[in-house]
Amino acid sequence: MYKLEKFYPKGFDPARYWEDRYAQEHAAGKSSEEYAKQEFWPLMEKYLSKEKLYLDAGCGIGGWIIFLKEQGYNVEGIDFAARTLRALIEYDPDLKLKMATMTGIPYADSSLDGLLSIGTLEYVKDKVPMALKEVNRVLKKDAVFFMEVPIANTLRNLIYIPLKKIERMIKVAQGLQPTFSNYLFEKENFLTLLKENGFEVLEVKPHELPDKNSHYCLYVDYPFLRGNEPYKLNILGKLIKKVANAISPWIASTGMVVVAKKL
Ligand SMILES: C[S@@+](CC[C@H](N)C(=O)[O-])C[C@H]1O[C@@H](n2cnc3c(N)ncnc32)[C@H](O)[C@@H]1O
Repeated sequence: MYKLEKFYPKGFDPARYWEDRYAQEHAAGKSSEEYAKQEFWPLMEKYLSKEKLYLDAGCGIGGWIIFLKEQGYNVEGIDFAARTLRALIEYDPDLKLKMATMTGIPYADSSLDGLLSIGTLEYVKDKVPMALKEVNRVLKKDAVFFMEVPIANTLRNLIYIPLKKIERMIKVAQGLQPTFSNYLFEKENFLTLLKENGFEVLEVKPHELPDKNSHYCLYVDYPFLRGNEPYKLNILGKLIKKVANAISPWIASTGMVVVAKKL
């Protein structure tokens, strides 16, 4: 897996910055449609059932928990960001939330029917295998583990990551301190890691923004492909998206969705 790093100005606290942003970005501002139109929602629906108990690990502002509750599912949440959780509980005091990390999930062995981890595992610095073991511990046999993680896709391996390595050398030479941002997982390595930690992989799908003219990876990684609105591409970006996807969605997709079950 590739470790992405950021270079912040002196005195800047990235953990605090993200907590501030999440605490303001209240889940109440998001509509259900945003979640329902995610391309992996039908996949989630296929594997979740309404009578069972699920945990959203790294629930953040709680968009998935609130959406799933509206749909009639029973989902509790953990996150290590205290202020984010506080904002969420103020929004809906009935939600069952706990402040905890992915590496110390406060549930008994074999107590959950499934666990969701959407955009979270990539932040578990140096402890991804430990987090997977912990997920395995709290799940019942055959329980579902539904996750979304960013990947080192073909374009990232060929262009973005080599450029990031050059940038790192320059910034370090300038005396700047690299700070861990998140991992980009290698698809096959990640699937092997799941198998090594007691899971059977059931389905793997590329994941990208659902809108036709948007693309998260192309927009974020390559500023010269950006259009006028967040995540919308310019003409060149749209062309690259079309050609890449015509060959394979794995060339440029930001992430992947993996459905696994505990063995
Ligand atoms: C990108 S957000 C995703 C939030 C949510 N799952 C969603 O899809 O909107 C990542 C979340 O993971 C949380 N997080 C990161 N590392 C974590 C860890 N080791 N244990 C628990 N939560 C963690 C962060 O606080 C943040 O709320």
